[in-house]
Amino acid sequence: MATSKNFPFAYIHKKICKTDDAVISIQCKAIQYGLGCFSGIRGFWNSNKKNLYIFRLKDHFERFRESAKILGMQLEMDYKKFEKVIMELLKKNKVKEDVYIRPTLYSGSTQLTPRFDNEGDDVAIYMISLKEYFKAGEGLNVCVSSWRRFDDDVFSVKAKMTGAYSSSALAKTEAIKNGFDEPIFLNRDGKVCEASGANIFGIKDGVVWTPPPGSNILNGITRRSLLSLFEKIGIPVREENFDRSMLYTFDEAFLSGTAAKVAAIRSVDRRIIGNGKEGPLTKKVSDLYSKAATCELKGFEKWCTPTK
Ligand SMILES: Cc1ncc(COP(=O)(O)O)c(C=O)c1O
Repeated sequence: MATSKNFPFAYIHKKICKTDDAVISIQCKAIQYGLGCFSGIRGFWNSNKKNLYIFRLKDHFERFRESAKILGMQLEMDYKKFEKVIMELLKKNKVKEDVYIRPTLYSGSTQLTPRFDNEGDDVAIYMISLKEYFKAGEGLNVCVSSWRRFDDDVFSVKAKMTGAYSSSALAKTEAIKNGFDEPIFLNRDGKVCEASGANIFGIKDGVVWTPPPGSNILNGITRRSLLSLFEKIGIPVREENFDRSMLYTFDEAFLSGTAAKVAAIRSVDRRIIGNGKEGPLTKKVSDLYSKAATCELKGFEKWCTPTK
């Protein structure tokens, strides 16, 4: 994983401050119980246009708002304010490179009981520079995790809930300790779900497969973008459940996510996918995504919010 650098200014307690000063009490429920939800947003620097474009900002806000709603948390910020704060922070941090923006709605209440309806919910936003989340180029060696994806009646899989990422952390730690780059979760029914922080796609005989939104996955914004891009180039997609065995026999497979972007899978449980290299359709959709994200793809400019 690539290293990243913190930008010096962040937002918390309704104002911009130094990132080092954006701190919360050890007593608060965000720390004690992981009560909160978050979003991960990317901005891409277009060196031709000398402009930074934020990818699908409104859609990210919408999911953030829905996460708060699912959890019953108070998000006292509308889209206009959200955009304004992010734009101000980008300006103050003088961002002229690819950036990863992390807004979190955390429970700042210091009362003891784990519940979501106390006062003190607050939005914090920080940003880091981020080129590649996964090591570029080589393809990922993934494994099927021994940890199952939780069902929506255990934790909400649709709210990007901070505490729920303990599940991702268990699977990711196990995968790395066993020599893999990333785990793939199965759900209780044994169907393929997603990775620790990314959605999964497979391609077989020219058809793209990805699990449907109802199968214990986060309905990724990158995932939705790629579905639109596959539609644009006329590649058939099946949003359907599939098994572990099918995962082994795909011609191509890749992960998608804001941090991950489009990341080709080289092997699953040490079985090489295709010829072990990024497949042609993966490359095609990855290139289209990169163009769309930098506001260079005709017809998809609406996905990009320019910062100047
Ligand atoms: C568990 C999980 N699945 C999928 C994704 C991909 O979602 P998106 O493309 O909106 O970043 C993420 C990343 O946020 C994630 O954490």
